[in-house]
Amino acid sequence: MAAPAPRLPGHVRIVEVGARDGLQNEKKIVATAAKIELVDRLSATGLQSIEATSFVSPKWIPQLADAAEVFAGITRLPGVHYPVLVPNLQGYERARAVGAEEIAIFTAASEAFNQRNINAGIDESLARFAPVMERACAEGVRVRGYVSTVLGCPYQGAVPLADVVRVARALHAMGCYEVSLGDTIGVGTPGKARAMLRAVAAEVPMAALAVHFHDTYGQALSNILACLEEGVAVVDSSVSGTGGCPYAKGASGNVASEDVVYMLHGLGIETGIDLGRLVETGRWLAALLGRDSGSKVTRALAAA
Ligand code: HMG
Ligand code: MG
Repeated sequence: MAAPAPRLPGHVRIVEVGARDGLQNEKKIVATAAKIELVDRLSATGLQSIEATSFVSPKWIPQLADAAEVFAGITRLPGVHYPVLVPNLQGYERARAVGAEEIAIFTAASEAFNQRNINAGIDESLARFAPVMERACAEGVRVRGYVSTVLGCPYQGAVPLADVVRVARALHAMGCYEVSLGDTIGVGTPGKARAMLRAVAAEVPMAALAVHFHDTYGQALSNILACLEEGVAVVDSSVSGTGGCPYAKGASGNVASEDVVYMLHGLGIETGIDLGRLVETGRWLAALLGRDSGSKVTRALAAA
């Protein structure tokens, strides 16, 4: 007898990371006005969560040095969340000064990657986030957490599952309402993604987990499907498949939001997103960046 079909969620929330993960990795610095236009266009697609920018050190990520101007310039729609990346108290204060109401803190399951990305070990980074969490909690700011390198590290290689679980649990215990599990260099495959999510979900409620796949080896959609079958209902993705981390050798774009939404709608899963508008935004961004869209759906529609 055939095994019963796995249950898939009826609704998936996409966390659009193109304006942050995407633009942080571009060689060319995108004009502030274009960044604002990108976020505003994304807001018109029905997305509920749009990571708007990053208040990290401008010496480390000069591409997003205009975070304050970008955040102050966007039109925030009611009901839409606009998290921003924050690495420390200084970033928190910069973000709050322009009215950010949701932040994302980030660390990794690999010591080696963390040292290169944020100049701190795992425990040191968690300690650095403690005063940020305290302020956020006192000020009613929502905090999302990222764990990077959950399926492999460019410097350390394999990352033990126990380390992923430990860091995810720590972020959740600190007060992150959601923990996003990042395959920073896109090396994961569906069986490993499923096992990783299952291990984390044994310690952190599935409803508080999200997945974040880069598509370096073309595995991202398959990985997402495996994780949906495990019960995850929040997926990070990036319009036009932009993205990568300058401190993760070999990291390429995130899975394209257009391709994720196409797959989800094809599975009968609601997202609240207008795929046509998202494709149009991806085309606009690709033209701005002077290259073809990283979305296969967009390229197929253009060729049809
Ligand atoms: P550091 O150099 O150790 O920091 O960097 P520091 O505290 O010693 O400060 C050095 C200088 O930076 C000082 O300035 C500070 O004022 C300034 P100076 O006195 O030399 O003139 N500074 C800041 N300026 C503005 N805003 C700030 C800030 N902090 C310090 N917030 C630090 C440590 C964490 C700041 C740095 O390493 C950093 O910003 N790293 C961020 C790297 C990054 O953004 N990587 C990409 C994001 S992570 C990612 O993409 C993965 C993800 O997508 C998930 C996945 O795919 O897995 C999330
Ligand atoms: Mg990323």
